[in-house]
Amino acid sequence: MFKTAGYTVSSVRPRRLRASAALRSLVCEQHSIQDSLILPVFVKAGLVKKQAIASMPDHYQWSIHDLPELIENVQAVGLKALILFGIPDTKDALGHSACSETGIIQQAIRCIKDRAPELLVISDLCYCEYTDHGHCGVLKKTDEQFEIDNDETLLLLQKQAISHAEAGVDMIAPSGMMDGMVGAIRYALDQSGWTHVPILSYTVKYASALYGPFRLAAEGAPVFGDRKTYQMDPSNRYESLREAELDVEEGADLMLIKPGHMYLDILWRIAQQYPSIPVGVYHTSGEYAMIKAASDRGWLHEQDTVREMFTSFHRAGARFIMTYYAYTYCQWMTKKV
Ligand code: PBG
Ligand code: ZN
Repeated sequence: MFKTAGYTVSSVRPRRLRASAALRSLVCEQHSIQDSLILPVFVKAGLVKKQAIASMPDHYQWSIHDLPELIENVQAVGLKALILFGIPDTKDALGHSACSETGIIQQAIRCIKDRAPELLVISDLCYCEYTDHGHCGVLKKTDEQFEIDNDETLLLLQKQAISHAEAGVDMIAPSGMMDGMVGAIRYALDQSGWTHVPILSYTVKYASALYGPFRLAAEGAPVFGDRKTYQMDPSNRYESLREAELDVEEGADLMLIKPGHMYLDILWRIAQQYPSIPVGVYHTSGEYAMIKAASDRGWLHEQDTVREMFTSFHRAGARFIMTYYAYTYCQWMTKKV
C-alpha cells in the first residue's frame, strides 16, 4: 500500500504488466503460440564451458562465458523470454549464495540484460539449488523429523527477490510453494522501490514424478525426504482454487500451473476462474523427456506431438508456456520445416 496525494494505492497494479515490449507481448490476449513461450535456462557457477545435461538432450548447464552464444541463438529464432535457474558453487543450510551480488543468477541477469535489454528475463526464486539439504527453504529439525519453516523462508525469499531486482531482472517467479510467498515478496519489492517488477507465481505446483530430469539439471534434489509437505497432492483439485484465491489476493501478476499435460483440468479451472489474470503452464522436464525419448526412437513424430501439446495447453486456457521446447519450436517456425 502506498499513500499518495491523500489516497492509498493498492500494491496490486495492472500497469506492471505493461512495463516493457517483451512483457506486453507475453501477456497479449491475441498473440501467437511462439510469443507465449518461455525457455528455462540453467546457469552454473565456476564452469569454463557449457555442459550438456544427460537427462535433458539439447539442454546445457551454461557458463557465464557462454551466455552470449545463448543470447544470439534465442534472438536468431525470435524467442523473447527466458526463465533462469542458478547452480551456485557453494551450498549451505540457509542457501547464502542465493542473495550474493556476485551470485550466479545475479551475474547471469546482468549479462543478459546488458547485451539484450529487449529479452524478457525472469528469475526462478527458490532455495533448493542453494541449500546443502536440497529443500526449498529453511529446515527446522526435531530429532528424527524435519520440517520446512515457512515463515523464516519468507524472509529469505524477500532478500533473494530484492537481490534479483537489483541485478535488473524483469520478473520474479517464486516456485517454492510457501504460504504467503507472493504477499511477502510483493511487500519487500514495493518497500525497496521495485513496484514495477511483476510476480509470476508458481501458484499450483503438484508434488509430481515429472521433475526427475530437472533435478539432475539444477542439482537441487532433496538429500532426504520429499517435497510433499509444501507441494500439492495430485489427488486434490479444489485445493488448487484455494492456492489461486490466495495468490490473487496477495497480488500475483501472472499464475502458473505445474506440471502441464497431466493437469489440464486444473489449468482449465483456474484459467476460467481468473480470466483477468494471465494463467500459464509449466511443461516440465519429465514431459519433455517423454516426447524426446519416444521421438528419438521413431515412436512419435516430435514436431507434430509438440504442436498438439501446445495447442492443448492453449485450448485449456494457458496464455503462456514454460517449456524446454521453446527454442526448438521457434526454430521449427523460423525454418518452416
Ligand atoms: C524447484 C523447481 C523444480 C522445478 C522448477 N523449480 C523442481 C522441484 O520442485 O522439485 C521443476 C521443473 C521441471 O521439472 O521442469 N523449486
Ligand atoms: Zn525449490
